[in-house]
Amino acid sequence: MAKQYDVAVIGAGAAGMMCAAVAAQQGKHVVLIDHAGKLAEKIRISGGGRCNFTNINAGPQNYLSQNPHFCKSALSRYTAQDFLALVKKYRISHHEKHKGQLFCNDSAEQIIAMLRAECDAGSVEWRMPCKVAGVQKLETGFSIDTDGGELLVDSVVVATGGLSIPKIGATDLGYRIAKQFDLKLVETRPGLVPLTFDGPSWEPFVPLAGIALEVEVSTGSAKGKGNLRGHFREDLLFTHRGLSGPAILQISSYWQPGTPIVLDLLPEMDVAETLIGLKKTEKKQLGNVLAQWLPARLADGLLTANGFDPAARLPDMTDAKLRKLGDAINRWAIVPTGSEGYRKAEVTLGGVDTKELSQQTMMANKVPGLYFIGETVDVTGWLGGYNFQWAWASGVAAGLAL
Ligand code: FDA
Repeated sequence: MAKQYDVAVIGAGAAGMMCAAVAAQQGKHVVLIDHAGKLAEKIRISGGGRCNFTNINAGPQNYLSQNPHFCKSALSRYTAQDFLALVKKYRISHHEKHKGQLFCNDSAEQIIAMLRAECDAGSVEWRMPCKVAGVQKLETGFSIDTDGGELLVDSVVVATGGLSIPKIGATDLGYRIAKQFDLKLVETRPGLVPLTFDGPSWEPFVPLAGIALEVEVSTGSAKGKGNLRGHFREDLLFTHRGLSGPAILQISSYWQPGTPIVLDLLPEMDVAETLIGLKKTEKKQLGNVLAQWLPARLADGLLTANGFDPAARLPDMTDAKLRKLGDAINRWAIVPTGSEGYRKAEVTLGGVDTKELSQQTMMANKVPGLYFIGETVDVTGWLGGYNFQWAWASGVAAGLAL
């Protein structure tokens, strides 16, 4: 049977639409397949509905992968400035919010409409909603088994994303296709996710839900290969089940179960030295002293959790005790029980091992014509527009190579 399409892109999310548009505008006959009823739900809900579509500072240093060098080629060939130029061409008004993060002023729908228009400019054909049961390699090209019948194509691009937020259509199809073709996978786990805590040591912090403050947070070791150590200065939020906020989402991607995260709740201050200096002149109660710098409820919670009486007076404390208190504030090491999981995770860490792919084209080295892009690949960005930039860049890399 004759081939129906040059290319089938499976997954019409961020990476898939970008790839389909680029390949089609290069003259390829492209079919874009997605099982969802609604187009690009993740883009729609991203950035609180305003889509943090890129980060002007995006570079390889903002990504986690077993091979931190893999993303360099795609990111340098399609930069945040390139995507911004497209956004400007479509006159989508936008603003920089925080640390290079670019958001739409109005709605994430504008990014979806832009990508759809780019696909239409190349006459991409849509199969949606359409379920993909499997992909088979033929002597030349591939056969795709869908609930709308079989499709015969020269090349297949897998852009089915990660496992995060299953209720809006995330599946493991990309990983299953990789396994079927004997491609290695890096173990997957939720990333950019709130961390949970339980047990008696967390009890004093349960009533603190809702408190937010800027902190420094770190985890892991700087020794060894790969991205093992994370360190961020961002906002922390106490929740009913544990900790969240940008600081925790960022560090969660670096956190390994069973190990601590270390929080500095007053990064501008050496708390022990300040208290030791103050006790010569200050007669206040400990709780009131700390409440000058920290939310009062948090100050009391920290004191109680560390065995201090918030009503104790500063001059009555020994230097050794104040050093212990300083450590509890500047170097608070706590071991999360777990995370909120894929239900709440913004991304999936791990995925198709980059050793299996060409960094120039994203094609599987041992399966000519089979490509993996976006979140299915073991490249995961920080919070702040970096994940979309990887989706665009890897989509363009494959789109140009097809
Ligand atoms: P994506 O998930 O976008 O697309 C995959 C597509 O494949 C989906 O359309 C899905 O329906 C389809 N699919 C899956 N299985 C299939 C199957 N079996 N058959 C057919 N189709 C199938 N990033 C960022 O940079 N800035 C931000 O503001 C945010 N905000 C954000 C908020 C929330 C709540 C989440 C969950 C995530 C973010 N992200 C983000 C992350 C970002 O959304 C994510 O990294 C990209 O969407 C990944 O793009 P992909 O194209 O790889 O997957």
